[in-house]
Amino acid sequence: MPARDTRLWSIDTPNTSYVVTVDEHDRLRGLHWGPRLSPEQALALLDLPESPFRPVVGREPRFDLGAGSAFQYGHNGVQVRFADGTRDLELVFAEAIEEEGDLTFVFTDRHYPLEVRTRYRSHPGTDVIERTLALRNTGTEQIEVVRADSATWVVPGLDTPRLSQLHGEWGAETQLTRTTIPHGETVIGSRRGITSHQANPWVVIDDGAATETSGPVWSTALAWSGTWRITVEKGPTGSVVVSVGFGHDPIAIRLGGGETLETPIAAGLHTAGGFASAASAWHDYALAHVLPHPEEVRPILYNSWEATEFDFTAEDQMRLADRAAAMGCELFVMDDGWFGARVNDRAGLGDWTPNPDRFPDGLGPLIKHVHGNGMRFGIWVEPEMVNPDSDLYRAHPDWVYHQPHRRRSEVRQQLVLNLARPDVADYIHARLDELLSENEIDFVKWDMNRPFTEAGWPGSDDPDRLWFDHTRNLYAILDRLRADHPALRIESCSSGGGRVDFGMLRRTDQVWISDNTDAVDRIAIQDGFAQVYPARVMGAWVTDSPNPLTRREVPLDFRFHVAMAGVLAVGGDLRIWSDEDQARGAELVSDYKRIRPAVQLGRRQPLRAGAVTGVQYDRGDQTVVLVWRKARSFAYPDPLLKLHGLDPDARYRDGRTGRVHHGAILATHGLELGLDPADYASAMIELTRLP
Ligand code: GLA
Repeated sequence: MPARDTRLWSIDTPNTSYVVTVDEHDRLRGLHWGPRLSPEQALALLDLPESPFRPVVGREPRFDLGAGSAFQYGHNGVQVRFADGTRDLELVFAEAIEEEGDLTFVFTDRHYPLEVRTRYRSHPGTDVIERTLALRNTGTEQIEVVRADSATWVVPGLDTPRLSQLHGEWGAETQLTRTTIPHGETVIGSRRGITSHQANPWVVIDDGAATETSGPVWSTALAWSGTWRITVEKGPTGSVVVSVGFGHDPIAIRLGGGETLETPIAAGLHTAGGFASAASAWHDYALAHVLPHPEEVRPILYNSWEATEFDFTAEDQMRLADRAAAMGCELFVMDDGWFGARVNDRAGLGDWTPNPDRFPDGLGPLIKHVHGNGMRFGIWVEPEMVNPDSDLYRAHPDWVYHQPHRRRSEVRQQLVLNLARPDVADYIHARLDELLSENEIDFVKWDMNRPFTEAGWPGSDDPDRLWFDHTRNLYAILDRLRADHPALRIESCSSGGGRVDFGMLRRTDQVWISDNTDAVDRIAIQDGFAQVYPARVMGAWVTDSPNPLTRREVPLDFRFHVAMAGVLAVGGDLRIWSDEDQARGAELVSDYKRIRPAVQLGRRQPLRAGAVTGVQYDRGDQTVVLVWRKARSFAYPDPLLKLHGLDPDARYRDGRTGRVHHGAILATHGLELGLDPADYASAMIELTRLP
C-alpha cells in the first residue's frame, strides 16, 4: 500500500503491518511494526509528534536502512569505503519497486557509483517478513564493504525492553535467557566460520512483561551459516533497533566494478500472543517457506556413533541394523569411521572411500543388508575437513586455511579445507557425487567439527572473502547434490548444534542439535531450540543409561518421552540392551509413529505444572502431551496440567483411560497426569477431539 505523495509504504501480513517512509532527506525510516493497520491508520502515523517530518530535537532518528549519513552516531548497518577513502553514504531515493509480495527500495549514492537495494518480502499465510540488501558497484573502481547488514529493524517504544537470546557451548546448545536490554549496543554473533554453539542468530524483544501466552513480541532470525552478528541498540530514550547481518569485525568485502553483493535473508516477525505464539509462527514459516520437503515426516533413525565410536566392523554395523529394524527404526545411519584410514580421529578425514579392512567389498553388502531389513541407509561425512594424516592433505597441503609464517592450529587433529577456493569446492562436490552415485545412499549426515583458525588464503588478493565464499560454496554443493540426487535427504551437524539456522535448513532436512543426549539436559536444549526451529527438524536420540557424557542414569521411558518431542531416533548400543528394554523400545517407537504427524507438523505449546514440564502438540483432532518430572519435593502431588488452545466447547477422549474431558475444564483446571511418584516420571498422553 504506497501512498505516493507521502512516500509511505506498508508491508502487510495477515496480522501485522510494517510501515516505512522515505523522509525529506531520502532516508528510509521505520514508523510502525505491530498490529495490522488500515491504509488510513497507517497514514495517521505521519501526524504523530515524532513523525520523520517533525523530528523531536535532541532525539536521534531511527533508520530502517542503517546507512551511515551525517549525524548518525548510532549503529550503522551499512558501511562502505570508496576508492578515495570517503566513508559516509549519501543516498538518494530512486524508486520503490513493487512486485508480487516484494517491495524493493532503490537508492543511489549522490556522488559515487553505488546502488543500494533493500527488499522486503512477505508470503501469504505468515507474519514473517524477509529482508535482504543488495549493494551494486556501478563503476569501475573497487568499493570496500565494511558492513552490510540484511536488515535494521525498528522496534516501537517499550518501557523496559528485554532481550531473549540463545547461548551455549558444545554439549549445552540453545540455552534460552531473557535479560533487560542495557543502554548502548549489545552484540551477539559468531567469528568461528559457522553459526556456532555459543549463540544462535535469533533474538526476541519484548517489553519485559510478555509471557508464553500473552504480550507483544518482536523477533528476528538470520538465514546464514557462517559468521554473523546481531546488534541490539537501545537509544537514550529507550527505543530499540536491531541490526542483523553476516560477517564479523574486522573483515570487509571488496566489491569490484559491476559486482553485486547480496546478503542473506534476515526474517522478522511480530506477534501479539507471547513467546509461544512467536515460536509457533516461526515453525509455520519454516514448514511453509524454508524446508525443502516440509510435507514429509522424518523417519525414525538409528545412528551407530555412541554405540561403536571408531571401533567396529561391517558385521557390527549389520548386527546393530538388525536390532534397530526389530525396534521399528526406519533409517540406519553409519557414523564416523568407515572411510580411508579413519579408525580413530587422528587420520583419514578427506579420503572418502571405504576403509579397505572394514569394507573389503565396499559399502554394497552393508547397504544391501540395511535395505533388506526394510530401512533406508545413511552415512556420515565431514567434507569440509582433513586430517593432516590423510592422502588428501599429503597431496594438497595448500588446500587448508592457513597463513604464511603461522602455525596451523589443529582441533581434534583436523584442519579446515579452504572451501572458498573454487577448485577445492569442485573437488569436494565431485567426491561426494561419486560416493552417492556409486552407492545407494539415502541420507547423509553432514558434519563440521571445528571452527576456523588462521583463516588465511595465501595468494588471494581478497582473502577476507573466504568468510563468505566458504558458506556460499557449501550451499552450492548441497544444492547441487540435492538437485542431482533428488531422493537424498540431509542432516546438518556441527559437533552437535554448531550450525543450525534458516540458511542451513533451506537445504537440509533435519539437524543434530547437540552431542549431549542426556534426556534431562535435553529438555532445556530442546526448549531453546523450539523458540525458533520446528520439532520436524529436531533430531533427538535415545541413548544408553548411564549417559556416556553426563553419567546420569535415567529410565528408558523418560529418555524416550523426551526424544519423542522431536524427530525420535535411537543412538544406544542395541547390542547390549536387555530384551526387556528392546521390547519396551519397540512399543515406544510404535507409539511415536502414531503421534509423529502431530509432533512434527503440529502446533507446539510449552506446558508447566509444579515440577512437571512438557509440551503439547496439536494437529487436527489430535492433541499430544509429553510430560517429564525429574523429581518431586516434599512428596507434594503433581498439580493438574492446564492445556492450551483447545476448543472450550469440544470434548476430548484420553487415550490412556478412555475418559472424556471438556476442553473448557482442561484449559481452566487441567488434566490429571497420574505420573509415577518416583523420580524421572514421564508420560505420553493422546487426546482425541470427539466429533
Ligand atoms: C561429531 C558429531 C557426532 C559424531 C562425531 C563423529 O562430534 O556431533 O554426532 O558424528 O562427530 O566423529
